[in-house]
Amino acid sequence: MKAAIISDIHSNLEALRAVIKNIKKRRIKRIFCLGDIVGYGANPNECIELCGSESKIIVAGNHDWATLGKTDISVFNPVAAEAIGWTRTNTAKSNIAHLKKYNLAETVDTILLVHAAPHKPEMWSYLFSLDDFKQQFEFFKEQVCFVGHSHIPSAVYQDANGYTDFLRDNPFPLIETRRYIVNVGSVGQPRDLDPRASYAIYDGNKKSIEIIRLDYNIPLAQQKVIDAGLPEVLADRLLTGR
Ligand SMILES: [Fe+2]
Repeated sequence: MKAAIISDIHSNLEALRAVIKNIKKRRIKRIFCLGDIVGYGANPNECIELCGSESKIIVAGNHDWATLGKTDISVFNPVAAEAIGWTRTNTAKSNIAHLKKYNLAETVDTILLVHAAPHKPEMWSYLFSLDDFKQQFEFFKEQVCFVGHSHIPSAVYQDANGYTDFLRDNPFPLIETRRYIVNVGSVGQPRDLDPRASYAIYDGNKKSIEIIRLDYNIPLAQQKVIDAGLPEVLADRLLTGR
């Protein structure tokens, strides 16, 4: 099986279109989406519709749940909370109904798909340090767990002896005796100081995973954020990637 894994679109239609175009150019038929389709950006409806039509499987993210009122936005920073309020007002009922359909985790063959972390996905834990990743391996049984949420692409493996480390190669091979947690990065709001859209390709035939970075029309996405009356800082950060 070959699949593209996308995450954290955050209503950025320009970035989503660029990513889907790139996936199709590579003739990859399956797209799995790890959630946070909405929040921050100006095109929630278009992103929900495009993700819905192009993705074989979608799991929910914390911004999707916050839009539905299923996650308390008092834990969000003020800018994120304001964007959720805007998203609630500007998302069609039919699209809200789509967001309601998504589960917190899905399994496909030897892959687990979850937005934040396999242990209690509804807690929306962030995985940053090696220790954060290491603690998660006992909470899933699949060979590979794909996550998003931090908007920072990274990959960690654990071998049969429990030795755990970050992977520095891209692409990297899938070794049978190892298990992996892979953060695919963010399509619509990267935060690793690289403003290009990020997604991952899983190749089960060649046994490899690759993180892809793509340029997209950032000025247009920024202008839409400003025109929508969303906080300006949300436009600024698209260019800085932080
Ligand atoms: Fe996110």
